[in-house]
Amino acid sequence: MKRKILVTSALPYANGPLHLGHLVEYTQTDIWARYQRLRGHECLYFCADDAHGTPIMLRAQSEGITPEALIERMHAEHLRDFTDFGIGFDLYHSTHSPENFQISQDLYRALRANEHIIVREIEQAYDPVAEMFLPDRFIRGTCPRCKAPDQYGDNCEVCGATYSPTDLLDARSAVSGATPVRRSSEHYFFELGDFTEFLQQWIHSGTLQEEMANKLDEWFTAGLSDWDISRDAPYFGIPIPDAPGKFFYVWLDALPGYMAATQHWCYKHGRNFDEFWGQGADAELYHFIGKDIIYFHALFWPAMLQGSGHRLPTGVFAHGHLTINGAKMSKSRGTSITARQYLEQLDPEFLRYYFACKLNSHVEDIDLNLEDFLLKGNGDLVGKVVNLASRAAGFIHKHFAGHLADSLGEDQPFYAQLAAKQEEIAASYEAREYARAMREIMTIADQLNAYVDQHAPWLLAKDDTQRDTLQRVCTVILNGFRLLITLLSPVLPRLAQRSSAFLRCELSWDGVQHPLLAHSIEPYSHLLQRMEKTHVDSLIQEPSQPIPPAPTTSKAEQAPKSETIGIEDFGKVDLRIARIVAAEAVEGADKLLHLTLDIGEAQTRSVFAGIKSAYDPATLVGRLTVMVANLTPRKMRFGLSEGMVLAASGDASGPFLLSPDSGAQPGMRVK
Ligand code: MSP
Ligand code: ZN
Repeated sequence: MKRKILVTSALPYANGPLHLGHLVEYTQTDIWARYQRLRGHECLYFCADDAHGTPIMLRAQSEGITPEALIERMHAEHLRDFTDFGIGFDLYHSTHSPENFQISQDLYRALRANEHIIVREIEQAYDPVAEMFLPDRFIRGTCPRCKAPDQYGDNCEVCGATYSPTDLLDARSAVSGATPVRRSSEHYFFELGDFTEFLQQWIHSGTLQEEMANKLDEWFTAGLSDWDISRDAPYFGIPIPDAPGKFFYVWLDALPGYMAATQHWCYKHGRNFDEFWGQGADAELYHFIGKDIIYFHALFWPAMLQGSGHRLPTGVFAHGHLTINGAKMSKSRGTSITARQYLEQLDPEFLRYYFACKLNSHVEDIDLNLEDFLLKGNGDLVGKVVNLASRAAGFIHKHFAGHLADSLGEDQPFYAQLAAKQEEIAASYEAREYARAMREIMTIADQLNAYVDQHAPWLLAKDDTQRDTLQRVCTVILNGFRLLITLLSPVLPRLAQRSSAFLRCELSWDGVQHPLLAHSIEPYSHLLQRMEKTHVDSLIQEPSQPIPPAPTTSKAEQAPKSETIGIEDFGKVDLRIARIVAAEAVEGADKLLHLTLDIGEAQTRSVFAGIKSAYDPATLVGRLTVMVANLTPRKMRFGLSEGMVLAASGDASGPFLLSPDSGAQPGMRVK
């Protein structure tokens, strides 16, 4: 029976590039979707950029562009990375879409009509300079436990302490630098507790992995609390109906993003949305997610669907997180590898294969060990699979003008026995036991390689009386190759495509039961290039900052000491000679001067510098100094500051602005 299936992966945030951790999920989902299509089912795969929220708004601000421009650029970048990794979405949409505005607001109205929304006054940290409420992540200060400076408002990266922003010593807003104040406002809450019984029953209905259901039980013991779904302006998001100045918290419109993508696709393809999301929908619906967002997908989402009269997911599948060489990905260790950095070095299909070798149906972390990665990719795919084709095709072209034999002769049972493994491999794919599927497929490859060694076609080729045997043996090997590639095609779509052209035949699930006989193939040309160790090694970047000390509690009182930096780090700082072409006092700021700097090549920069106490602005005009030209622009109360000038200062004296010796020109690099 032909199934109708909708699958989704979590929607990546539009404020950063995709990294290899993300790709675990999209690869896992894509393999499953491709497997279903290979079996002849309709399987639609939808995803989108998660485009709203404070971090995106602030990032756009710091780049000096609109959030719309930022998310448009990120959408294009994400889609390009996904496409290059062979992720075959039926639609890659955005939560900042007309469909999503409509669907999220309708969903909210339905929840409100069913009395699941309440309004309450709450107190929060507020930045009086930037005039906005601050999420915990945007409050920074000194850790109350280990005294490490510049830690997030909710946890310390040095000692691992968790606390609330009010516990921070000298808390500051990461947006403006101002000291946050407490301020209250009305918030809208979704009463998750109304769904306690329904959810308790639902999470144990076989929809979720057992370990996920067990984890969720902990939340019930604590009691389900109301979910704060509103944020105050300024916020880049979807307005809450009938609530001026209030926006949906990003997660409230992210989850309906799955529906919005479906809606858009249905409209384009003349299909009915209710087939997928209506109460009586006949499609299966599966969400693939990471373990960090189980709470949203297995509690909030089913409650939102139930409370608004929609169908529920058929399954929610969580995977673990990716570690690299046994450790969490980290910028400072150079292991936070972006999708693009990988693509610049290596063929994406090696990574897809490696992830497949590691993935199973459980919520377990998976490790990318780069040494193992190199061995597996080259050993299995090149050594055991692609080599079969290159060896056998050589003889077929040299001796038989590219023609395969008319029959497999006495080796027919050998081939049939290999092809019969198809069913158990199908079951492994279906159950998301990809590691098992890859082992089963490689067992077939091993048997074929043993067959090659045993029949030694290179010896047969030297003996004219063995011509028929040589052709038959090579025909068996090439059919074995076709079988392997068909079974691997959900994992390696590009290798499958190239192999299909080489074999001059469409690959299909049922096709492998009918070997290619009396058929001509193309000459062999490279299907997959071996990976070079140097390319794999270059995935790990030079650390971008000194590696922080491992979190300990015993040494927690120690303040971080200064460490050396490499020449590469220093090289990242773009220091330039600048001429001060204008300088003026800033109204309302007693320390700042507003400088306009000429940095050569007809470029000017606007910079706010804290040097007013030592300089009369009029004396500065025309003078040369040194500036940091590649500092992320910073929005200040008085305007955007696009860099920094360098000045020395002692405890009580200074600042002393630096100047170059005579002869230096604006725009010269300082090294
Ligand atoms: N925007 C939310 C999801 C909204 S879904 C309605 C989000 N975005 S994310 O960009 O942070 O993550 C997207 C997906 O990638 C999540 O499922 C997350 O678990 C997964 N991964 C992100 N980093 C990961 C690893 N290091 N390893 C494996 N998966 C990880 O969450
Ligand atoms: Zn600390």
